[in-house]
Amino acid sequence: MKVFLIGFMGCGKSTVGRILADRLGFDFIDTDMLIEQRWGMKIEEMVATKGEMFFRHIETELLEEIISQPYDTGGIIVACGGGMPCSENNLLMMLYGGTTIYLKSSERVLYDRLKNERGNRFLIKNMTDDELKTYIAETLTKRHNSYYSQAYMIITNDETVDNCVEKILNKTLFARLFA
Ligand code: S3P
Repeated sequence: MKVFLIGFMGCGKSTVGRILADRLGFDFIDTDMLIEQRWGMKIEEMVATKGEMFFRHIETELLEEIISQPYDTGGIIVACGGGMPCSENNLLMMLYGGTTIYLKSSERVLYDRLKNERGNRFLIKNMTDDELKTYIAETLTKRHNSYYSQAYMIITNDETVDNCVEKILNKTLFARLFA
């Protein structure tokens, strides 16, 4: 079983994903971290030296690799980079290749989390507070309407991480019972 966690930067995919994997005894992948490990550089550096298109292509290649791998004996939770479902056919691959869960956080919560964590995110690194607010509002609406909202399951994550993990576990168990 493959579970793809998608959603905007700062919605908690990595933190929630890691705990969820632990609780279920699944493997865990953070696509940003795996790309950085394999290429031996930060994403920010990759984008600065090779361009955003290159990074997006690497993301797609990684997704194809994950989807083509059999996970018959257990499962894997994949915390996807915020832009991964928004390029090429990535969202379709996720929808057909596993269970896609959108962690939905409000603009206010995203802003509160991201305003102190801009450093390693090339898209927002140099933004002022006001620019960040506007960027979140505009980009979240676009990504929500065109991509994120098509996920198999939507879980709101404006509260604690534990709360979010419980909601996912309850909802997936419920869905499995009545499948
Ligand atoms: C991006 C989100 C980041 C990272 C890159 C681009 C995006 O991942 O992949 O900076 O396009 O939203 P997180 O969502 O894990 O921060």
